[in-house]
Amino acid sequence: MKVGFIGFGEVASNLSKWLKDEGVESYTSLENRSSKTKKLAEEYAANICPDNKTLAELSDILISAVTPAEAVNVAEEVGKYVKGIYVDLNNISPQTVRKALGNIENGKTVDAAIMGGIKKEGVKVQIIASGRCASQFAGLNKYGLNIKIVNHDPGKAKALKMLRSSYTKGVSALLLESLYSAYMMGLDKEFLENLERTECPGFKNSAISRVKSSAIHSQRKAQEMDEIINFMIEYGHIIMSKSTKEVFKDIYSKISHDKRYENYKELFESIK
Ligand SMILES: NC(=O)c1ccc[n+]([C@@H]2O[C@H](COP(=O)([O-])OP(=O)(O)OC[C@H]3O[C@@H](n4cnc5c(N)ncnc54)[C@H](OP(=O)(O)O)[C@@H]3O)[C@@H](O)[C@H]2O)c1
Repeated sequence: MKVGFIGFGEVASNLSKWLKDEGVESYTSLENRSSKTKKLAEEYAANICPDNKTLAELSDILISAVTPAEAVNVAEEVGKYVKGIYVDLNNISPQTVRKALGNIENGKTVDAAIMGGIKKEGVKVQIIASGRCASQFAGLNKYGLNIKIVNHDPGKAKALKMLRSSYTKGVSALLLESLYSAYMMGLDKEFLENLERTECPGFKNSAISRVKSSAIHSQRKAQEMDEIINFMIEYGHIIMSKSTKEVFKDIYSKISHDKRYENYKELFESIK
């Protein structure tokens, strides 16, 4: 079994490592790639192809794990050379993934989404999959992956990912706003304790961590909300998601981007 990766960043390097340990051959191409990617490929000892065409021709499963803005471009580039199954793992909307997968001439495609963080959760992170060849992709479960088929229509996996994201980012934005007001009133400690009683044990720490992460990744999160809004607007009247995006945009305009915030109090002091 040969698994190829277009893009060799956090996702590809982690998947590649686990698959290799299970005896699966892993491939990538470093043509036009940054030194950071080259270093990762070296560190994880991926087999190197001279270009994406060769990579597409030899891979039984070819996984696209690039930056979201490149998902359609790379599918266009390799579309006519793919011999096996093409899997898009990028954080893009259902509309965009259908556009990307439409370039794969043999039609053996999978729309897939990682439902969590691969660095934190490791090989057991859930990957959901839809599309014609989802069940063949799920064959990688025998090497320890956690792929769940949700539907056979391409786009449904990305849709579920976006709906989940709309919810989780909305809650984070609300936490950020409420905790900031509580902090300004000197009631943050009591507020967090009350929240933990209302929600569940451990909620206080997870709330603090979400608030910090929301601020640190505020620009990326605001951009991701744009994709979510463009997707959801087709199905209903969007109010909350637009506000979520505004919260991330607002925090991004207020925080210092070269400072490392140790806790939420430091963060709130800087945006006062
Ligand atoms: N990390 C996660 O836990 C996670 C979770 C869910 C979804 N995702 C999604 O999975 C995808 C990959 O994420 P990641 O965390 O691995 O990103 P990453 O660490 O930023 O890596 C992206 C990789 O894609 C390469 N790349 C960019 N443009 C390319 C092109 N035109 N052709 C070939 N390679 C290209 C980059 O190479 P250079 O270094 O040369 O630019 C880099 O190796 C993203 O769409 C992300 O949204 C990630």
